[in-house]
Amino acid sequence: MNKKFLKFFSLFLFFIFSLSATAAEKTADLLNPGWSFKGFFGKFDRGSLQRGYQVYTEVCAACHSMKHLSYRNLSEPGGPEFSKDQVKIIASQFEVTDGPNDDGEMFVRPARPSDSFVSPYENNKAAAAANGGAYPPDMSVLVKARKGGADYIYSLLLGYDDPPSGVTLDDGVYYNKYMAGNKIKMSNPLEDDLLEYSDGTSATQEQMARDVTTFLAWAAEPHLEQRHKIGFRAIIYLIILSVLVYFSMKKIWSRVESEV
Ligand code: HEC
Repeated sequence: MNKKFLKFFSLFLFFIFSLSATAAEKTADLLNPGWSFKGFFGKFDRGSLQRGYQVYTEVCAACHSMKHLSYRNLSEPGGPEFSKDQVKIIASQFEVTDGPNDDGEMFVRPARPSDSFVSPYENNKAAAAANGGAYPPDMSVLVKARKGGADYIYSLLLGYDDPPSGVTLDDGVYYNKYMAGNKIKMSNPLEDDLLEYSDGTSATQEQMARDVTTFLAWAAEPHLEQRHKIGFRAIIYLIILSVLVYFSMKKIWSRVESEV
């Protein structure tokens, strides 16, 4: 009995110590700008999603793929909801290799809405070779893959800083408050007025970070709005059901109570 207890206790201590050890290694607390898509009634901000796509395609897509997205997803309900014609134009700006044709040769054609997002590199090795040995991860589900989700991505994009004295960085390595170990092999991708938003919004660094993070959050969970809607309906249904059950119970027992 005692032995068992000791074993359990030492495991418990180990657990507590390892927790505090990870806490000590922890990076700065994440920024939280307040997301419209969080919470029970959460919905994506259409404008932000459309601007976020613009940031992705004009900035991040130079290095990061989003293989699990097709151009037609951009017009589906619950997403950026570009019109079908807009999506045709968007897709046609990219080139994909297709084939083989009747002569057995591969050929290049403009992308169609049904094509997946075109990747910037042939494969991960080529991506790593072009980026100092670290490959830019595919961003299709990155928001889900990282602890802290949207807050983390947003913070990381605004987390570049000069290294504190005593910290030296190799070439191609940058200091970021929110990256594990504070070192990242991606230079700061954003700066004020890096691009011109087609809806006229002022392109500050915070605005672009917020928009592209919103876009990535949607990409990682395209059915979020639908899920929230179903959840809401289920709750309404349960409320109505409980009221009905309550009153029928009252009615059924009313005679018994009056007889007693
Ligand atoms: C010039 C190429 C390049 C561009 C442009 C670029 N990235 Fe990166 N990104 C990288 C590389 C390389 C890594 C891997 C860094 C590492 O592992 O140290 C990375 C990693 C990341 C990570 C993951 C960090 C982690 O936790 O592992 C996020 C998030 C990210 N990039 C977001 C973005 C966003 C958003 C944009 C557009 C605004 C963008 N990147 C533009 C090259 C780029």
